[in-house]
Amino acid sequence: MGFEKTLLIVKPDGVARGLVGEVLSRIEQKGLRIEKMKTIQMDMKLAESHYIEHKGKPYYDELIKYITEAPVVVAIIGGENAIASVRRIMGPTDPLEATPGSIRGAYATSTTRNLVHGSDSQEAAKREIELFFPESKE
Ligand code: CDP
Ligand code: MG
Repeated sequence: MGFEKTLLIVKPDGVARGLVGEVLSRIEQKGLRIEKMKTIQMDMKLAESHYIEHKGKPYYDELIKYITEAPVVVAIIGGENAIASVRRIMGPTDPLEATPGSIRGAYATSTTRNLVHGSDSQEAAKREIELFFPESKE
C-alpha cells in the first residue's frame, strides 16, 4: 500500500502486435508513472531466473520459449498501490476470465500468450526490478 514500484513486461506478442503504446497508455491514464523502460531480448538465463517459481509446471517449457522468442519491453512503474493497480489493469492470467476492459480481456486469447506481466507482491516486485534493472538496487 502507499507508493509502490512494480515491474511491467510487455511480452513478445504485445511488442510484435504493436500494443506497447496501448499498454503504456492505460498505465499512464490510471495515474501511474513510467520510471524506467527499455526494450530487451530475454535470454534463457534471464527467463529462467524471472520465472523460477514456475519451474516444473506443465506450461513451463512453453512459457520460456514464448518469453524468449522476440524482444520485450520492461518498465518500472511507480505510483499509489502500483502493484495491485497494474494487476487490475492487466486482468487475470486466463484472458477468458478477464473482463473486456482489461488488457488481457481486450487483446489476448491464450493463457500463455497473454501480452503482459506485472509483479504480484512487494517481494516479487523488488526481486524482479533488481533482476531487470540491477543498477537501481538500493
Ligand atoms: O502472469 P500471471 O501472474 O497472471 O500468471 P502466473 O500464474 O504467474 O503465470 C506466469 C505466466 O505463465 C502467465 O502469465 C502465462 O504466460 C504462463 N502460464 C501458462 O502458460 N499457463 C498457465 N496455466 C499458467 C500460466
Ligand atoms: Mg505471476
